Amino acid sequence: MGHRSNYSASVVIILSFLISFYIIHLLDQHFTLVRSNYTKNNPVFIYERLSGQNLIDIRENNPVNSKDSNIYRHQKCSLEPEYRFDCGRDRVLGQSQCEDRGCCYDPLSNSAGPPWCFYPTFYPGYKMGPLTPTERGRAAVLTRSKPFYLPRDISTLRLEIEERTAGVLHLTLKDPSVQRYEVELPDDVTQSRDKKDVLYITEFKSDPFGFIVRRKSNGNVIVNTTVAPLLFADQYLQLSTTLASTLVSGLGEHYTSLLLDLNWTSLTLWNRDMAPHADANLYGSHPFYLVQEGDGSAHGVFLLNSNAIEVVLQPTPALTWVSTGGILDLYIILGADPQSVVQQYLQVIGFPMMPPYWSLGFHLCRWGYTTTNTTRYVAQRMHDAGFPLDVQWNDLDYADKRRIFTFDPQRFGDLPEMVEEFHQRGLKYILILDPGISSTSRPGTYPPFDDGLKRDVFIKNVTGDILIGKVWPGPTAFPDFTNPEAIQWWEDCIRNFYSKVPVDGLWIDMNEPSSFVQGSVEGCPDTGLENPPYTPRVIGGQLNSGTLCMSAQQKQSTHYNLHNMYGLTEAFATNRALMKITGKRPFVLSRSSFSGIGRFSAVWTGDVRSDWEQLRFSIPAVLQFGLFGVPLVGADICGFGGDTTEELCVRWMQLGAFYPFMRNHNDRPNAPQEPYVFGREAQAAMRSVLKVRYSLLPFLYTLFHHAHTSADTVARPLFMVFPTDPDCQTIDRQFLWGTSLLISPVLEQGAAQLNAYLPKGTWYNFYNGEPFYSKGQYVLLPAPLDTINVHVREGHIIPQQEPALTTTASRRNPFFLMVALSSGGQAWGDLFWDDGESLDTYETRNYCHVTFAAGQSQIVSDPLKLNKALDGLVLGGLRVFGVPSAPHCVLANRVKVRNFTYRSDTKVLTVSNLTLPMSRAFTVQWIL
Ligand SMILES: *[C@@H]1O[C@H](CO)[C@@H](O)[C@H](O)[C@H]1NC(C)=O
Ligand SMILES: *[C@@H]1O[C@H](CO)[C@@H](O)[C@H](O)[C@H]1NC(C)=O
Ligand SMILES: *[C@@H]1O[C@H](CO)[C@@H](O)[C@H](O)[C@H]1NC(C)=O
Ligand SMILES: *[C@@H]1O[C@H](CO)[C@@H](O)[C@H](O)[C@H]1NC(C)=O
Ligand SMILES: *[C@@H]1O[C@H](CO)[C@@H](O)[C@H](O)[C@H]1NC(C)=O
Ligand SMILES: *[C@@H]1O[C@H](CO)[C@@H](O)[C@H](O)[C@H]1NC(C)=O
Repeated sequence: MGHRSNYSASVVIILSFLISFYIIHLLDQHFTLVRSNYTKNNPVFIYERLSGQNLIDIRENNPVNSKDSNIYRHQKCSLEPEYRFDCGRDRVLGQSQCEDRGCCYDPLSNSAGPPWCFYPTFYPGYKMGPLTPTERGRAAVLTRSKPFYLPRDISTLRLEIEERTAGVLHLTLKDPSVQRYEVELPDDVTQSRDKKDVLYITEFKSDPFGFIVRRKSNGNVIVNTTVAPLLFADQYLQLSTTLASTLVSGLGEHYTSLLLDLNWTSLTLWNRDMAPHADANLYGSHPFYLVQEGDGSAHGVFLLNSNAIEVVLQPTPALTWVSTGGILDLYIILGADPQSVVQQYLQVIGFPMMPPYWSLGFHLCRWGYTTTNTTRYVAQRMHDAGFPLDVQWNDLDYADKRRIFTFDPQRFGDLPEMVEEFHQRGLKYILILDPGISSTSRPGTYPPFDDGLKRDVFIKNVTGDILIGKVWPGPTAFPDFTNPEAIQWWEDCIRNFYSKVPVDGLWIDMNEPSSFVQGSVEGCPDTGLENPPYTPRVIGGQLNSGTLCMSAQQKQSTHYNLHNMYGLTEAFATNRALMKITGKRPFVLSRSSFSGIGRFSAVWTGDVRSDWEQLRFSIPAVLQFGLFGVPLVGADICGFGGDTTEELCVRWMQLGAFYPFMRNHNDRPNAPQEPYVFGREAQAAMRSVLKVRYSLLPFLYTLFHHAHTSADTVARPLFMVFPTDPDCQTIDRQFLWGTSLLISPVLEQGAAQLNAYLPKGTWYNFYNGEPFYSKGQYVLLPAPLDTINVHVREGHIIPQQEPALTTTASRRNPFFLMVALSSGGQAWGDLFWDDGESLDTYETRNYCHVTFAAGQSQIVSDPLKLNKALDGLVLGGLRVFGVPSAPHCVLANRVKVRNFTYRSDTKVLTVSNLTLPMSRAFTVQWIL
């Protein structure tokens, strides 16, 4: 924003405000609405008709500057500040420039906030022709008789409407005369089309064009684009809509709370290597928002567009999409509850991958493990100190001259042996791959570049030579992952490296892509792509800052169009390569992201700082990625930048134990933060929470199974589980795993207690089973440094396993169950189990799935056994919370059990020393 100059006219305007407000109401009555009834092929159609000739004059002759028109101007411009939509978003406008556009100019004293130049109530726009049926739905032509104020304005558009499924309405607006860039998600998602009983009603306004989408069940307006004109020019597309409430989440990746600030803010979606901080475009772009409607319903809107996007939020509540290219490709997702919104969104962009079991264990990394021996030493210290660890990592330290696909012959000369040793101990190993390929090695000494050159896999500059940027190894070329040959070359490079260093996963960093020079070492040509008519607010001020030239050429299109998809396309290529090379389930961790990346990769939230604020904002960051279909996500525990403190690191390990992806990672210059470097009490706290996580991995894995097969979320905001509880609408300092485990971490320095919200119902203390009967209330919970509060929801059964120092070991341990009885004495839970690493076990029916049901003082299991994965594994015991009185006898498969205890204070029954085969149905009864 910034179209402010003087505001001398404001007094006059304000004086005329009330008068004109009254007149506009009179004028409103000149409209007649003509509706036709809603049928499948014929939406409710609203034509606005003007019986008052004056109004038609205003529209067609645009008489804003004529003296006679003052009264109309006042009528047209008498919008309350929060209903104003910015007419000068593309550039700063003074009064006369503003009025030349036919817009209203009304300076306000506050320079932040409502725009000074805004659209009048009637502003000429596209006119919609009749709707005609098409193969998939309906279509109409939109035309403008006069050009807009934007360069290369497009006067004719084609609107297509597809009722895609009952919950998803799909609308596209594009130029029918030329093929503009349209996003293709890699490896096209199977698209369900089942449109029985659609949840929405669509209404179109013909002149100026706009549309309204309502929730059919209650008539709530979900989208109303008639509030401001649709603009469509070559490099500027704009669409505004009202919002059904102020409870808006999404539009990542930004450093925000779970609910976005609508007080005249803007969010830019432009992937950028940038340490998380407020008001900055960060590593990923997810043009999707979710709105809680206030009554428990929710809807989502997805704009499938990969160009630089700015989203303007205003308190109306309303939102304006501005994109710098492509087409408007909108999915309106009706839910009706928040979880269904995410499921329907993921039906469009793809369900998340199933992660390997070991990837849910603890990961340890740092930039600065400078030799194999240092790396070995770290893993050994972890083991000796009794900390679970599944995956040891190396940052770029390993690479020879920081070039990927090499390893330093001195410091990492025995890297293959080290990886072999790790494997023998049940550990996994991951290292970093940056996309930049060093371009200055002596020819013949660095095959990835030589081969890539030969195979023509690199991104080109505008004159067709390879574009050279600069990253860690110095000058680098960048693979074009939209080129099938580059995907194959990447696979070959990985295969070659893997034959020496059999890594278990790959960490793709710097893939925004990041470059230390602006555009290229040669700069960028001065073209409309580098300097578009409008540049959204981005860090660095220009789209090519910190990355490649916008004019750079990729196989599919220009980098201008593809930039936001670089990480997605690299994740796809890396996932595919690992899958083909190892034949196992791939693990890829990406920094840059775009809609759909959850199918191929985990994501972490980048270079977070070691401080309490970053700890706190890591929760909304993780929860938002859940909404975006990336359930395997976490922040760098204890912080990447800056020195941590012991207290911060303990609290972060405690919270991090409940990130779906758990990695402690540190930058080179900082104080060490491996768990074993801290004092005895801090270590004990970290050890105990790591054991809690490891004990819960069967449950976490089962949640991932449901994410993969049903698009359920893993780490969930409270509002997704309790959508009708108004107290849950805003909470983002607590979250759930699935529907049953509530995590309430300490996020403040020095705190030894916290005020946590417990939704209505019984919640059991995870550690001792003590019940709390909540009316839906905040509760002050003790939280000494050795404790993170975790509660189990009544009615749920959580499968656990005896923890161990690796998942390789823990997967062989006895299971146990945490049974949290409802007030009616019932509970339900399930377990998904397979070998943890084979491909497509669900799809090929190569797994076991056990359900557990408790009721009438017994619990029974019902195993679906499609392979031998559960053979030899036993149920070792259970804890039943909420048993009203002491059982006099416990039977397991009708045999008396001796090892059980009951505590009458907490009402917890503990049964131990069982050896019931998990692969067979069992019954455990407690006779009261
Ligand atoms: C639709 O048609 C039915 C029957 O013809 C009529 O009763 C109803 O009022 C109409 N609804 C609208 C919104 O026009
Ligand atoms: C849509 O927005 C316009 C402009 O604010 C308003 O006049 C109209 O009543 C809205 N329509 C609905 C259905 O809310
Ligand atoms: C919105 O922001 C302005 C200044 O930027 C501030 O004065 C005002 O109090 C804010 N309003 C709300 C509701 O937060
Ligand atoms: C690692 O340590 C071993 C045993 O102390 C030693 O023999 C070896 O040279 C060291 N390797 C490196 C790369 O420093
Ligand atoms: C493209 O790259 C070549 C080789 O580096 C260079 O000579 C040329 O100036 C570059 N073109 C542009 C427009 O930057
Ligand atoms: C539990 O079982 C073990 C092994 O069967 C036995 O040694 C022990 O005495 C039992 N404890 C109780 C309290 O019954």
